[in-house]
Amino acid sequence: MPKATPHPRRIFISTALPYANGAFHIGHVMEYIQADIWVRHVRLQLTDADQLFFVGADDTHGAPIMLKAEAEGITPQALVARIAATRPKCLNGFLISFDHWHSTDSPENVELSCDIYKKLKAHGLIYPKTIEQFYDPIKGMFLPDRYIKGECPKCGAKDQYGDACEHCSTVYNATELINPYSTLSGAAPVLKTSEHFFFKLSDPQCLAFLHEWTQHHRLQSEVSNKIREWLGEEGGESRLIDWDISRDAPYFGIEIPDAPGKYFYVWLDAPIGYLASLKARLAQDGVALADFLRDPGIEQYHFIGKDIIYFHTLFWPAMLKFAGEPYHVPDNVFVHGFITFSGEKMSKSRGTGISPELYLDLGLNPEWLRYYLAAKLNDRVEDLDFNPDDFIARVNSDLIGKYINIASRTATFIKKYFNNRLGQHFAALPIAQETLQQANAIAALYDKRQFSAAVRQIMELADKMNAYWDQQAPWTLAKRFDALDDNERAALHDTCSVALEVFRLLTLYLKPILPKLAGEAEHFLSIAPLNWRNAAAALKAGHAINDYAHLMTRIDPKQHIDRLLEAQALPAPAVKSSAAAPAATPSASTSSAQTPAIITIDDFAKVDLRVAQILHAEIVEGSDKLLKLTLDLGEEKPRTVFAGIRSAYAPEQLIGRFTVAIANLAPRKMKFGVSEGMALAASGETPGIYLLQPDNGAQAGMKIK
Ligand code: MSP
Ligand code: ZN
Repeated sequence: MPKATPHPRRIFISTALPYANGAFHIGHVMEYIQADIWVRHVRLQLTDADQLFFVGADDTHGAPIMLKAEAEGITPQALVARIAATRPKCLNGFLISFDHWHSTDSPENVELSCDIYKKLKAHGLIYPKTIEQFYDPIKGMFLPDRYIKGECPKCGAKDQYGDACEHCSTVYNATELINPYSTLSGAAPVLKTSEHFFFKLSDPQCLAFLHEWTQHHRLQSEVSNKIREWLGEEGGESRLIDWDISRDAPYFGIEIPDAPGKYFYVWLDAPIGYLASLKARLAQDGVALADFLRDPGIEQYHFIGKDIIYFHTLFWPAMLKFAGEPYHVPDNVFVHGFITFSGEKMSKSRGTGISPELYLDLGLNPEWLRYYLAAKLNDRVEDLDFNPDDFIARVNSDLIGKYINIASRTATFIKKYFNNRLGQHFAALPIAQETLQQANAIAALYDKRQFSAAVRQIMELADKMNAYWDQQAPWTLAKRFDALDDNERAALHDTCSVALEVFRLLTLYLKPILPKLAGEAEHFLSIAPLNWRNAAAALKAGHAINDYAHLMTRIDPKQHIDRLLEAQALPAPAVKSSAAAPAATPSASTSSAQTPAIITIDDFAKVDLRVAQILHAEIVEGSDKLLKLTLDLGEEKPRTVFAGIRSAYAPEQLIGRFTVAIANLAPRKMKFGVSEGMALAASGETPGIYLLQPDNGAQAGMKIK
């Protein structure tokens, strides 16, 4: 147990808040499964007097979500609501037991963010400073680095992002780019000054506090090493840079009190969203957040991935500490690594990884994934590799072959010979005692989030039980059942019964990982819900159980895995050349690398396809491939689009025609000017390019869906 306290425990646990600009990916689901296993384990220790709240929320604010909504022609609130509506399917589907799911775009978060900000300001830790930044004069907004491109100052590579060159890996400032342009409008950005607000992380009291916080909490060693790198030596000079917490309008976020037109940077209000979600949940019970937080015994834990350690171990504890009452500094931050696929990084664009939604849609059992991840997760900041063959083996051979097997093989005997009633003396048998004795050790491994070690130990116990069964060979006695004397009959009865007692204990041990299966096993055994406190309450002599119903099917590599991976196959390469096709997804997948990945309707909705009328078309001097088109997309101003169709069309053939264009493609700076979209055309193996054309009557600007 993390804290031994005679008082009721009050525990508050969160997972990182996912950006609300897309569906969950498997990395999110891995984090939720890790946290959920721990939460369920802790819940199995609690008494009725204790309280635990496990919360999440969507991280809604910031420029990317604002711009994405704008590109779709909807409000950011509408975008965020659409994404929020997709959450329950996945969370329920993978049996994640959040007590509440909230949003950072909520009244609770506005109230708490403003409160924390004001308290920090009153504490002298917020100050204004004028800074100079790139500004897009067409779009009328300051540009985050990711929206600036240009030529690399070192190697001259074109279209490089504002922070580093993908070609030669040089890291630079956006202001060093040659011929920089805004990816939002194509305009050349200009430098402009603006007043920002900073959180004074370099203040000596912050440094002193963070040194203390790092030492007095049992952080993972990888995490405390990182923090030490950032903080420097104790007593030394602060290496921390003050944190810019404001952004100028237009911004989707929370307006800063007394600073019209200035908004909190998304990373300021995002972690406060943990508290907003807790506040909303507590309100359902009529409890005020401040009253809950003020309890000195409160425990506060955050599960996060390795990429956001900085925010959660420096800014977040410091914000809470210096905001003061009633806020509580985190008791720990539990950091996990990333999930990879057969050794490769997950990438949505390359189609690697598995889609959680597809996993559920194909009818794969969520507890297979929960078990597999548990069997590989530990308390280190290490990446975890998903390997399809390993997945099949662990579930089929270990989970089903060892654990489920105990119940299924025993059930037949108990029903056939003993009418589903248990024997008299089985609970005292050494195999039952030995299995029970491991309860504390296994609970301790869960406490420490060493799930893989817990699973290993549980499977060893299952192995022992199966070996005991084989050694007892109850089928030999059963064969001459009618001829058995009382002692033999009792021995057979106890062998079958002790197998179910061991199965009961293993079910408890696996319950944090397999909550649904555990419920079904409890029903089969006809017992009250298992928890760590009733572990020693063995099945009673003569207890009646229910008929066995099939508990879990095996993974069928063909039916389940091939379909999962096939649908995830890599998209066809952009250039039509089968020789250059990247390697297909690992495993026995039969699909061709030419088949694009299956996408969801949400993915499709990302592409803003519009009917376009070609107002003008002309030859581009110096290019034998391109035509310059002026397209009416039903907007205020027509757009310029360069299309590689000169070999198939003369400009005059095109003027007045309707076609289909992508309206939300990032503008692309070309040698001849900026292309503000793309006109769609078909081509095949034989020469020829065929511009798409809608049926008669379609109007410019109509959405295609
Ligand atoms: N919105 C921020 C977090 C704000 S918390 C106050 C964010 N969002 S995210 O959607 O990008 O990531 C959410 C969580 O998923 C993070 O903990 C992140 O580390 C985790 N993961 C993202 N990709 C992952 C993998 N490939 N594998 C495992 N976890 C991964 O960051
Ligand atoms: Zn370069």
